Amino acid sequence: MATLTPPRVLLAAAVVLAACSSVPVETERADVAVGPVPTIPGPPATSTESADTETTASAPPDTPATTDTAPTTDTAVPDPERTREPDLGVGDDLFPDLGSSDVDVQSYLVRLTVDPSRDEIDGIVTIEAEIADDIAVMPLDQIGLDVDQVAVDGDEAEFELTDTELLVELPPDVASVVTVRIEYSFVPNGATSAVGLPSGWFVNAATDDSYVLNEPDGARSWMPSNDHPSDKAKWTFEVTVPPGTTAAANGELIARTSVDGDDVWIWAEFEPMPTYLVQLIVGSYEVVVADPVELASGREVPLTHVVPAGERTVFEAAFESIGPQMDFFEARFGPYPLERYGLAFVNDLSGLAMETQGRSMFGADDFAPEAPEFLQELLLSHELAHQWFGNAVSPATWGDIWLNESLATYAQWLWLDEAGLQPLDDFAAEMLARRQVDGESTGDPSVSELFGFLRYDGGAPIVHALRLTMGDDPFFELLSDWVADNADTSRTTDDFIDLATEVHRSDLTAFFDAWLFAGDLPDEYPS
Ligand code: ARG
Ligand code: ZN
Repeated sequence: MATLTPPRVLLAAAVVLAACSSVPVETERADVAVGPVPTIPGPPATSTESADTETTASAPPDTPATTDTAPTTDTAVPDPERTREPDLGVGDDLFPDLGSSDVDVQSYLVRLTVDPSRDEIDGIVTIEAEIADDIAVMPLDQIGLDVDQVAVDGDEAEFELTDTELLVELPPDVASVVTVRIEYSFVPNGATSAVGLPSGWFVNAATDDSYVLNEPDGARSWMPSNDHPSDKAKWTFEVTVPPGTTAAANGELIARTSVDGDDVWIWAEFEPMPTYLVQLIVGSYEVVVADPVELASGREVPLTHVVPAGERTVFEAAFESIGPQMDFFEARFGPYPLERYGLAFVNDLSGLAMETQGRSMFGADDFAPEAPEFLQELLLSHELAHQWFGNAVSPATWGDIWLNESLATYAQWLWLDEAGLQPLDDFAAEMLARRQVDGESTGDPSVSELFGFLRYDGGAPIVHALRLTMGDDPFFELLSDWVADNADTSRTTDDFIDLATEVHRSDLTAFFDAWLFAGDLPDEYPS
């Protein structure tokens, strides 16, 4: 039996290896400006999407198993009666109650009031969504929220809370695009999710700082949402905190203002993002608006970092790593797929790392001056690679998670090899040897091992074997086409296999059966 090996545990092994490495640490100073933030008016309460490439109800039903969750009914024939019970899931075998195939969120406006002297956090979430034309109630995911009031298109609406849903009654004549406003509160209760890892909203008891780590199903514990990776939306965050406290979220810092003596931080992420990639960090932090990184491709990518207050210099080596890693990945996976990037360091557990969209998040301790360079390069490259694999192209269901973790782990292997920290062929051979245990396959995970060894260092051997089967040029063409063709959508393993087959110009069924869908792998790589 394979045991659950979260990245945290794997990374402990990485630390030991790092101790033996003697590669010099890059110490060049980052040219970073901690700038005052211009105060400009916040974005509108809801945003309309035009550039969104998600499948919607009006798009042709080309590949129903893939892309964004679109209402499944034909919007051309509305049912004024609205009598159908909604789907309380999207058909995700591992998480049957996440999301709803009757809801396609266009935008979230998340307004939170976080006061560390109170146990509760108050929220108002405004969701603009396209909904199926015949459903009587609109389902949203939630767990344990205290909901005060719900309005649909400005009018108060009846609602019901079940263990996992907020069911909002819809007026019979409501249009297929609705704006739902939910006023609620919650007690932060970051806990261990079914995958055996912490998820949700975490408060550091010693410092009162907090952050969220949602993957896979933590978002619903602190905000009502269509909590599934198949539904991407645009986001605006407005966080009210006591004066002097920082609140950071994905995207661009739009404004930092003062209202009735409190500070209000407004952030906007208009590149399509699912709930699990949300970043929220509140506490004694500093926002570092750095100079853009200039890539070898000639492009400049804006950088915004978040660091514990007063500790910016500690993280300068990490800031400096972005350029070389991005250049290296761009050469192999195609252009960096997002508008901006940055690094966020939170005061919490060592080994914590998450590819929160457009600004990866790490535990600050892992980047202390005495912390091993190997671990830092591993974490930084892994989370950066996720911006291509996981963020630009997200999994259509949680069962497709190897598309995130095995590809990001392989990218991390490539970088560690490039940096002279871990020779690729030796490490790939070692990990294939460790995979010689009959257990679950990488391509068909169970919930409890979703983020276990078989998806990380035990899944990357499959990617390596695919490279050896296809040859270098077609393999890297596959990876860059995968991102270029599918950016801003959510895709299945079958989509990936189809593209691989197309690029390879020959059937790969036998390959994927032997490597991705087998518990017991071949004991040698293809030659
Ligand atoms: N996606 C993260 C990574 O890069 C792992 C997140 C696991 N989930 C969690 N709640 N800790 O490896
Ligand atoms: Zn990962």
